[in-house]
Amino acid sequence: MIGYVRVCTMALVGAWTAACSGEGDIADTDFTEQFALGDTLPGTDPAHFAEARDAFAASENAADGLGPIFNERGCGTCHQNGALGGAGQQVEARFGRLVNGTFDTMASVGGSLRQLFGIGGFNVGGLNCNSGTDANPPAGATIFAGRLTTPLFGLGLVDSLPDSAFDTLASRQPAAIRGIVNRVTTVLPNTLDPEQATGRTRVGRFGWKAGVPNLGQFSADAYLNEMGITTTSCINGQVNSAFALETRANRANTNAIINGCPDDQVPGIDDSLAAETANCTQNEDGEPEAVHELQDDVAFFTFFMAHLAPPPRTAISPGSAADRGRTLFNSASLACSGCHRSDADVFRSRSNGGVPAGIVFAPFSDFLLHDMGTLGDGIGNQGESVAATRRMRTAPLWGLRSRNRLLHDGRTTDRATAILAHNGGANGQGTASANAFNALTSAQKQDLLAFLNTL
Ligand code: HEC
Ligand code: HEC
Repeated sequence: MIGYVRVCTMALVGAWTAACSGEGDIADTDFTEQFALGDTLPGTDPAHFAEARDAFAASENAADGLGPIFNERGCGTCHQNGALGGAGQQVEARFGRLVNGTFDTMASVGGSLRQLFGIGGFNVGGLNCNSGTDANPPAGATIFAGRLTTPLFGLGLVDSLPDSAFDTLASRQPAAIRGIVNRVTTVLPNTLDPEQATGRTRVGRFGWKAGVPNLGQFSADAYLNEMGITTTSCINGQVNSAFALETRANRANTNAIINGCPDDQVPGIDDSLAAETANCTQNEDGEPEAVHELQDDVAFFTFFMAHLAPPPRTAISPGSAADRGRTLFNSASLACSGCHRSDADVFRSRSNGGVPAGIVFAPFSDFLLHDMGTLGDGIGNQGESVAATRRMRTAPLWGLRSRNRLLHDGRTTDRATAILAHNGGANGQGTASANAFNALTSAQKQDLLAFLNTL
C-alpha cells in the first residue's frame, strides 16, 4: 500500500474511524489533498506559528549577531522554494582531505563546512574591525562537495518517529539495498520529548547524511554554522552551550583575524550565555527556574518547522500514465520504493516533540544511509572510512513537483538525469535501479516521471 496522506485526528475527521485504525483499507485513488504547500498541521496554534514563522523569515545583520562569517542572513533566505520552509537554490561548500585513508574534516581550518561570506568591515568602540573570510580553497583540501538546500515540509512528523521506526524500515529492505540506521549522539535534545537527553543516542534523520537527530539541534546548528549566530539553551536544568562558540574565518583561535576586535559583545561566546545560565539557576525554594528552555529563536525555528504540513500530492486516476509509473516505481526490478519508502504503518506521527499523533504520511524515503558509490559526496566525520563517506540519506521525494535543482550538489534539474546518476558503479546500492531505469522504453520512462510529478 504505497502513497497517500491520511489524517487520522479528531480535528479533521471528527472521530477516529475504522479506516484510520487499519492499514491498507483505503484505495490509493482515495487520496485527497489535505494541505497546501506551507500549510500547518491540524491543531497548530496560529498566533504561535505566525511568531515562529516571522523568526524563521527574519533577515539578520551584524548587530543581531550575524557572522563574523556566514552563508546567509536568514533561514528563510535559503529555505523558500514553493513556500517559506521549502528547498532552495543555495548550494553550500564542504571540503576535507584523506589522511592515511580516512576522512579529515580539517576542523582546525574551519572544515568541513566553508562559510562563503564575512560581515567585512565594522566598528566597535572606535576600533575599525574586519571579519575576514574563509580561504577558498582552504589550503590542503583535496575533497570538495556541494550541498543543496533541502525542503522542510512535514519534517516534524519525521522528528516524532521513535528510533524503532527506522530499524523496521531497514529490516524490510532486501540485503542488496539495505540502508544503515545512523545512530548519533544528541547534542541538543528536544525538551518536549522525554526520551531525549543530552549525550544519549538517537537515530540521525536530518540532512543529506542523516547526521542530525532532531529539528531543535538542526536549528541551533544552522543558526551558528549558516548565520554565525550563537545560542545557549537550558536543558533539564543544565546550561547547554554546545552552540555558544563563534565560528571565525578558518577557525582562527583568537580575534586576530578581525584585528583584535570583538565580533560579538563577548568574543567567542554567546551574548546571552549569562541570561541563559540564570534561567538554569534555582529559585529560593530550590527549584529550577526554567528547566526546559530552548533558546528563544531556536525554539521558534523548531516550532515553525515541526508544524509545517507535508507537501500535497495529486490524485492518480486508474490507468493513467502516473498509475503505470507508480507500478514501475514499486516494481522489484526498479526497486525505487525499496529506498524511497512510504510504509503507512511506520510513517504515523507520535505526539513526542509536540506534533499531533496519528498523522499518516508518505515521505518516499527511509531516512537511512546508503552506499551510493561514486554518487556519494566523499564527505564524512573525522576519521571515517572512504566507504562511510560515500553514504547518503535517501532523498525524500515528497514535494518533488515543487523542486527544481536535484541531488546533494544540485547538479541537475532533470529528473531522468537524477535517476541515472544513481549509477554509482560497483559499490553503489543505486546502480541496479539506475540500470533498470535506463533499460525502460521511453514510454515507460515517461510514465515513471509522470508518477514522480504527482509527488
Ligand atoms: C545558506 C543557506 C541556508 C541557511 C541560511 C539555512 N539553511 Fe537549512 N539547509 C541548507 C542546506 C544546504 C541544507 C542541507 C545541509 C546538509 O545536509 O548538508 C539544509 C538543511 C536543513 C535542515 C535539514 C532538512 C532535511 O532535509 O533533513 C533543517 C532542519 C534546516 N536546514 C533548518 C534551517 C534553519 C532552522 C535555519 C536558520 C537557523 C537554516 N536551516 C538556515 C541551507 C541553509
Ligand atoms: C539504494 C537506495 C535507492 C534506490 C534503490 C533509489 N534511490 Fe533515489 N535516491 C537515493 C539517495 C541516497 C538519493 C540522494 C543521492 C544524492 O544526492 O547523493 C536519491 C535521490 C533521488 C532523487 C533526487 C531527489 C532530490 O531531492 O534531489 C530522485 C528523483 C530519485 N532518487 C528517484 C529514484 C527513482 C525513480 C528510483 C528508482 C528507479 C530510485 N530513486 C532508486 C537512494 C535510492
